Amino acid sequence: MKYSLLRGMQDIFPETIHLWQYVEDCAKKTVESFNFKEIRTPIVENAELFLRSIGEDTDIVEKEMYIFQDKKGRKVALRPEGTASVVRAYIQHSLFNNPAPQKFYYIGPMFRYERPQKGRFRQFHQIGVESFGIASPVIDAELIYMLKMFLESLDIKNLNYEINSLGCEKCRPEYRKVLFNFLADKVTNLCNDCQRRFKKNPLRVLDCKLPACKESLKNIPLILDFLCNDCKNHFLSLQNELDEMKISYAINPRIVRGLDYYTRTVFEVTTTMLGAQNAIAAGGRYDTLVALFGGPSTPAAGFAIGMERLIEICANSLSIKPEKNLVYVAYITGQVEEKEARKLVRFLRNKEISVETSYEEASLKSQLRKADRLGADIVIIVGEDEIKKSLYKWKNMKNGLQGEASLDELVDLIRKSNVNN
Ligand code: HAM
Repeated sequence: MKYSLLRGMQDIFPETIHLWQYVEDCAKKTVESFNFKEIRTPIVENAELFLRSIGEDTDIVEKEMYIFQDKKGRKVALRPEGTASVVRAYIQHSLFNNPAPQKFYYIGPMFRYERPQKGRFRQFHQIGVESFGIASPVIDAELIYMLKMFLESLDIKNLNYEINSLGCEKCRPEYRKVLFNFLADKVTNLCNDCQRRFKKNPLRVLDCKLPACKESLKNIPLILDFLCNDCKNHFLSLQNELDEMKISYAINPRIVRGLDYYTRTVFEVTTTMLGAQNAIAAGGRYDTLVALFGGPSTPAAGFAIGMERLIEICANSLSIKPEKNLVYVAYITGQVEEKEARKLVRFLRNKEISVETSYEEASLKSQLRKADRLGADIVIIVGEDEIKKSLYKWKNMKNGLQGEASLDELVDLIRKSNVNN
């Protein structure tokens, strides 16, 4: 084969796409009940948008961005995430003039040039939500509640909900200083990545997964001990809200997230079912990002779910069948029969029934064999007799039932036998 998939990319075939559609429908139902509205932004944006929002010293920007020059030499990027684009759209179209909260959701592909492994791809899909205009921690808690509600609608339980606060522009610089001093005499024992992080963005050191670094950083100062009063209260209120909603969670002061725009609340939802890539969803508050891009100061928060990881988890537990039955219209060889069969096919398709038929001369036997191989649920046979009587022979291939039916009866019968009806 001359061409094959690029590394880290996947084809999704019809056999699994119904699972994707089901998950997307469930997500839409849940988030729309919280008044989130769909937004679709381009996959390609000005690269600068991501460099500035996600942060120049993050792994995503340093190592994982798909950046190109377009024909005019402009630096553009395939989006590595959705938040920056939604913020751009929010400011560009002055959506801040609409009453708060403005709530958006998106479903679509993202691109990160990571080292592919189980659960980690270079093109992957996210379901994301962003809420603008509300500073209250009630929104932070509601986002986590909504995420849980959605995951439970897919029968996914036993997940770990972890929260942290990253403070704000007032208290974080102080923490950064303390952290820097703490790391200064340990830095030579740390991995190359951490040595780099130490200079550019010491908070990132907390993210290191290497056991040796973890060991050296056992007593690292933690941000929660440095929060200002406002951030402390925000974090406490978030916990009270979560308790009120009966969501069990753990406080993990080591969550720093791989994107720089967060302020105060951050959270991650992880599972033990996925191996190393255990984060299904993550998000948090980003109260300074809208202003950073020139919009009015606007509090905001959101999260994104990794669809590949989600589907991997529910592929075994959810037994979702394709929504529609397949009907195969077979006919006895002959011009009149073929014409009548084509008419019947058009009639059924107009009723939104999924229909396949034969497009070349073939014996009835071979048509029936074809119907079977295509996995048809119902076969209808058109012959001289059927045309005369306006009654069609049908057979349900799944349970063996068969009989004769008029056009209207056929439609009824097919709809009633639909697996998911
Ligand atoms: P993130 O943590 O970078 O956050 O990504 C969210 C989720 O996307 C992850 O938890 C994971 O499930 C999935 N994901 C990330 N990278 C990959 C990959 N290479 N392959 C497969 N799945 C992946 C964000 O993107 C933020 N924009 C979330 C957010 C929205 N924060 C506020 N609003």
